[in-house]
Amino acid sequence: MSSSPTSAPTLQPVADIAAPENRTGAGSETPYPPVQRPRRLRRTDALRRMVRETVLTVDDLIYPLFVMDGEGQQQEVPSMPGCFRYSLDLLLAEVKTASDLGIGAIALFPLIPPHQKDNAGTESYNPEGLIPRAIRAIKQAVPQMLVITDVALDPYSSAGHDGIVKAGQILNDETVAVLVKQALMHAEAGADIVAPSDMMDGRVGAIRQALDAAGWINVGILAYSAKYASAYYGPFRDALDSAPQFGDKKTYQMDAANAREAIKEVELDIAEGADMVMVKPALAYLDVIGRIKQHTNLPVAAYNVSGEYAMIKAAAQQGWIDEQKVMLETLTSMKRAGADVILTYFAKAVALALQA
Ligand code: PBG
Repeated sequence: MSSSPTSAPTLQPVADIAAPENRTGAGSETPYPPVQRPRRLRRTDALRRMVRETVLTVDDLIYPLFVMDGEGQQQEVPSMPGCFRYSLDLLLAEVKTASDLGIGAIALFPLIPPHQKDNAGTESYNPEGLIPRAIRAIKQAVPQMLVITDVALDPYSSAGHDGIVKAGQILNDETVAVLVKQALMHAEAGADIVAPSDMMDGRVGAIRQALDAAGWINVGILAYSAKYASAYYGPFRDALDSAPQFGDKKTYQMDAANAREAIKEVELDIAEGADMVMVKPALAYLDVIGRIKQHTNLPVAAYNVSGEYAMIKAAAQQGWIDEQKVMLETLTSMKRAGADVILTYFAKAVALALQA
């Protein structure tokens, strides 16, 4: 009962050498001075920068780009404001712009017209197809840009699935054989890294063996290891007109409820020769990114997918959030969770924001 504010230990005021703003505390008036004051390290921008644990840089980013046939074409994706499908000529200009902003890597996704789609995705390994032409053109125009290609059938599949369909089933091993042809063709065209996003079993090993056998020992594999059957891919499927024509992707993409299974997939992909592993989507799976990071010393990539992009854009358009701040906070959270590399449609906006 006798304890009163005046009985607290007396603090001696320090000599008057500190800047006045460092002495805003109550000093000897303080009734219960805490031993630790974490706020000390948050006081100024210089202090906050000094103790910052996670720094997002343009080096972390991979810029996904949609490419289409034609000339002088630039079509905004309605559900992805600020993202376009580019014909090859304009794609090159966009890649140059990205490079000038310091972005070092792009990931290519093709819009394939319906008449070129079939069940076996044969257009996916046409050496004169859109993607090999795009790779060659980019490597000629912007040689320093790292070119990553998506290896999957869905943009080429009349069924909109990542595999060959038979009696309503997605065939695994027959699909892997096609993916191998696709990956070899990308390597031949000059891709630096191929990124299988199909979730067929055994595809990383099959692609690695085929690349090595053909002499492409330095072409890397970025494996979409923990790719979930996610509703966040909706806007991407609008962009490529690649939505499944029946059913969903739950027999090959992962169940959103599973995290241990993500580790299993990562272990398999590493054993099969993956150079980097990916978690996709990112925002709703930060725990998975964190767990995989603890499990492997390989670089971990996170895909900030189309639906995550669209949500931020939509809320910002309504004036409900500050787009740039939410973008940077969101991408920083992915890096903090453990991502070394982030695929994001915001790549240019991030580069600009970080330059400012
Ligand atoms: C295709 C693929 C998809 C995405 C990347 N590669 C869609 C899907 O699996 O249905 C989604 C990317 C995004 O939503 O931004 N295999």
